[in-house]
Amino acid sequence: MDINPKFEKLQELRRQARLGGGKERIEKQHASGKLTAYERIELLVDKDSFEEIGALVRHRCRDFGLDKQSYPGDGVVTGYGTINGRPVYVFSQDFTVFGGSLSETHAEKICKIMDMALKNGVPVIGLNDSGGARIQEGVASLGGYAEVFWRNSMASGVVPQISAIMGPCAGGAVYSPAITDFIFMVQDTSFMFVTGPNVVKTVTHEEVTSEELGGASAHSSKSGVAHFSTDNDADCLQRIRTLMSYLPQNCEEKAPRQPAVEPDSALAGGLDTIVPNNPNKPYDIKDVIKGVVDGGSFFEVHENYADNIVVGFARLGGRSIGIVANQPLSLAGCLDNNASVKGARFVRFCDAFNIPLVVFEDVPGFLPGTDQEWGGIIKHGAKLLYAFCEATVPKMTVITRKAYGGAYDVMNSKHIRADYNVAWPSAEIAVMGTKGAVEIIFRREIKSAADPETTQKQLENEYEETFANPYRAAARGYIDDVIFPSETRKKLIKAFELVQNKADTVPRKKHDNLPL
Ligand code: HXC
Repeated sequence: MDINPKFEKLQELRRQARLGGGKERIEKQHASGKLTAYERIELLVDKDSFEEIGALVRHRCRDFGLDKQSYPGDGVVTGYGTINGRPVYVFSQDFTVFGGSLSETHAEKICKIMDMALKNGVPVIGLNDSGGARIQEGVASLGGYAEVFWRNSMASGVVPQISAIMGPCAGGAVYSPAITDFIFMVQDTSFMFVTGPNVVKTVTHEEVTSEELGGASAHSSKSGVAHFSTDNDADCLQRIRTLMSYLPQNCEEKAPRQPAVEPDSALAGGLDTIVPNNPNKPYDIKDVIKGVVDGGSFFEVHENYADNIVVGFARLGGRSIGIVANQPLSLAGCLDNNASVKGARFVRFCDAFNIPLVVFEDVPGFLPGTDQEWGGIIKHGAKLLYAFCEATVPKMTVITRKAYGGAYDVMNSKHIRADYNVAWPSAEIAVMGTKGAVEIIFRREIKSAADPETTQKQLENEYEETFANPYRAAARGYIDDVIFPSETRKKLIKAFELVQNKADTVPRKKHDNLPL
């Protein structure tokens, strides 16, 4: 039977769209270690689930010879598919077409799926690989970016928005990913910066490569702009799939529940002995987390940035939770500027998307010094405090050791409406550490004593007896119970059963005024 010529045309257009900027440019893309826009989508979504929207869209530019150059799709593949059976909208920029640069129509395609995502309560995943604004289109392209930024802002807190940077992302273009909830970057093949190495050299005379300035390592460890640094395209896309498994589709839903998995028995069995008797000796809070949560479920966010606080998703009895934990292995677990902002951003994400919070607390206080004070520890610390205060999701705290000073209040204390607060017998809940406290309140007594050293030791013992334990706080009801570490998992799971339908509200307002 003859093929209908009208069908042939459609077949040909689809073939052209699939080919993007052509074979040669695809080969170049592969040679630089990158997959194409379509190949990336295939790895991101469930097999055969992707449906493209706008494959036949073309730009409308007539300047600089573009009337003679046009490709169906115009440099971005948009559509929807499923991840583990749940729908997602996706856009994937095609670097083989005008360097993935954003034209007016390219932006319209992204906006179209964002509008649908918002209307239908479905997450948006953007795979970025672009030379920025389509230079030939001038202000039409800038307008296109602003349309995307506006939608990113409107969708914030309504549907999860995930960005993967899988090539260049420069200039104002960085602000779309920056507004989204999580940024993944690919080692060696991606970079993000507002001004590139050439401009940097002209203005500040610094010599720096793209990778040094804005590669995955720089942004996942120095600036904190990226939440995840991944090995290659495939690793990046697989990790986005994993992240999605912890998230609900939108702010009206809860995250999907999975069957509970017992934690690693060695880690769970080690909980009762993990906190050293010497309060100045560190231990790895990640071993505590992994000994409590469902086996293999801890998915760390911002692993290489501000490692004095650990944040990430996990499951507890099959339920998705967000974890915030002080890390005694780094800066003794002190809160500093970066840790405060990292923690606050994570807490606010979890609260926006109904993911309950569990805090593991071992914090000697805020980090002292001019660096911190001049860097704004007052306003940054306030962000973390504010984030916990305003969070209405179920929130629980386990004090494993130190809960000192303002940091005691900040780290999800009972007073700021946490639902279930417990401490291990090793907990020390006090205004400050023993030595510092004794030197302040007994300065005169120590100075005038016949044997100052012995007197100080005696006073320190007295202070420790009084405050270096959880029982004062328990007596006041500031913690709900003192528990053995090995009981933690069981008790938290039970507590979550009770608070799963918690309905808390904040006073009516236009919006809050988070201390920025
Ligand atoms: C149109 C572009 C383009 C752009 C690249 N191309 N960037 N076309 N507009 N912005 C085209 C190139 O002409 C080339 O076309 C193809 O894409 C690949 O580019 P190459 O330079 O050959 O690739 P590569 O060597 O890998 O370098 C990639 C690059 C470089 C680093 C992205 O192309 C570059 O610096 N581009 C300009 C980046 C830029 O300054 N953008 C504007 C930033 S400001 P052919 O036909 O040869 O394949 C901005 C403002 C946003 O984006 C504002 C938001 C508020």
